[in-house]
Amino acid sequence: MRLPTVEDTRDFGRALGRVLRPGDLVLLSGPLGAGKTALAQGIGAGLDVPGEVTSPTFVIARVHRGGRVPFVHVDAYRLGTPGEVDDLDLDASVDDSVTVVEWGGGKVEQLADAYLEVRIERGDDDETREVTLVPHHGDWSARLASLAAR
Ligand SMILES: Nc1ncnc2c1ncn2[C@@H]1O[C@H](COP(=O)(O)OP(=O)(O)O)[C@@H](O)[C@H]1O
Ligand SMILES: [Mg+2]
Repeated sequence: MRLPTVEDTRDFGRALGRVLRPGDLVLLSGPLGAGKTALAQGIGAGLDVPGEVTSPTFVIARVHRGGRVPFVHVDAYRLGTPGEVDDLDLDASVDDSVTVVEWGGGKVEQLADAYLEVRIERGDDDETREVTLVPHHGDWSARLASLAAR
């Protein structure tokens, strides 16, 4: 799917956020500046999270409450060893929350039986992004059909 502007990326995130529910794990992949945080901001909006969603790069993980579901937003870029991932205690919150992890590939897949990978790549100009949804197990395919039809 083509996302020509940052607003399109946020809108797409909002639509995705509306279909998310407790226990969902979403991994956002793509290079620095791809739009992972912008997409996470949209997901927060789709979950009716109050207040601003900003990059958790420095705090690594932030929990946004007060929306439809607790929204756990993680930036795993600086996480090294599996022990550092364990120390975040994401497994304690994953069942009751929506957990969205930037740079989570190879680090957090084990948190849930199924997860959705959202790949964001740069398109043919400075602004355009290409997003690809890759379901890993679970019933993601059926659930995402409503998104494609939006
Ligand atoms: N189509 C687009 N989708 C997402 N971001 C875009 C788009 N076009 C331009 N941008 C800009 O790219 C940057 C993406 O930053 P950010 O979301 O922090 O990326 P990441 O978290 O992947 O490092 C923002 O400055 C945003 O305004
Ligand atoms: Mg980011």
